[in-house]
Amino acid sequence: METKEIIIEVENIRDGSREDKLLRQAGDIIRGGGLVAFPTETVYGLGGDALNKESSQKIYEAKGRPSDNPLIVHIANWEDIFSITANLPQVAKAMADVFWPGPLTMILQKSDSVPYETTGGLETVAVRMPANQLARKIIEYSGGYVAAPSANLSGRPSPTTARHVVEDMAGRIQMIIDGGEVQIGLESTIVDLTVYPPQILRPGYITESMLTEVIGEVEVDNAILHPSSGQAPRAPGMKYRHYAPKGDLTVVEGDSDNVIQYINAKVEEAFQSKMKVGVISVCEHVDEYHADVVKSVGNRYDEKSIAKHLYKVLRDFDQEGVQIIYSEAFESNELGQAIMNRLLKAAGQKVIKV
Ligand code: TXA
Ligand code: MG
Repeated sequence: METKEIIIEVENIRDGSREDKLLRQAGDIIRGGGLVAFPTETVYGLGGDALNKESSQKIYEAKGRPSDNPLIVHIANWEDIFSITANLPQVAKAMADVFWPGPLTMILQKSDSVPYETTGGLETVAVRMPANQLARKIIEYSGGYVAAPSANLSGRPSPTTARHVVEDMAGRIQMIIDGGEVQIGLESTIVDLTVYPPQILRPGYITESMLTEVIGEVEVDNAILHPSSGQAPRAPGMKYRHYAPKGDLTVVEGDSDNVIQYINAKVEEAFQSKMKVGVISVCEHVDEYHADVVKSVGNRYDEKSIAKHLYKVLRDFDQEGVQIIYSEAFESNELGQAIMNRLLKAAGQKVIKV
């Protein structure tokens, strides 16, 4: 299959413009049962018609993803939520008023119009209204309901640029819309509203304290809080070892000086055994390491910069054929909860405390 790649700058999408026509074409492809990758503010998504079971099957196929892992249905208007959900709780509106459009996904009871192929056989449906303008236009032109997982091959880090999508999806889908680098870099926060109190199933940019301020008590899935407990996460997708780089990744936690000293000793060992070794660090510390490849994910005191670059750095290590990777640990509160959740998953929960 030939994959059409199109660059679109948000500023240019006026009604009737060339860009608008291209977005309509993208919508037509999805309406016709095809797949289009597009940017959202979190990561790039791989979109298909959420109400067409064949489209959902194609998404699983293109990603090489197990079909028991449900998809998120993306909408562009609040009113569209009513036809895909049942018994919508009031709290959903309260959350939408504050956080939509934006990086928040709600788990709700599904209506009959959503096929089980989209929900991985579940009676619930995940719904999100993205903030990215290109995404919203495509959803509108597609008929209103777009199932979109992250546009990576299963097991690879989520794509934060169109280049990443091309690496994984060229030849597998009809179109890739390039809207530049995403703003956030980690997938949306998922909150289950079918339980009380509402439960965070996947931490993200919208943090526990931001949610508490709007809807009161919120819990975090125990399997997310205690990843080594062996308990199964409630979001089916969280059980897979996603985001994994090809190299063997270990996270090192502790006082900065100890961490740097420990990692450098390990780098020495790797050199002895002729392995290519890399370090994930922050700009304040990159000069302290002697590994083959040392990469900064951002500024220690700016968690947004770390969130934005984490997946790109993991992909870069793959590209450079690094066999062993050590990463500094980061703060684990607020946005740090999402960062550490993804980093530890990439490491298969391998952490060393020094
Ligand atoms: O930011 C995002 O959410 C991105 C962009 C493209 O919007 N999408 C994304 O989709 O991350 P995906 O498919 O990679 O992750 C969806 C997650 C999976 O962990 C899945 O198990 C969970 O959402 N999920 C979907 N439906 C669910 C449901 N009904 N109950 C529990 N978890 C659900
Ligand atoms: Mg994903």
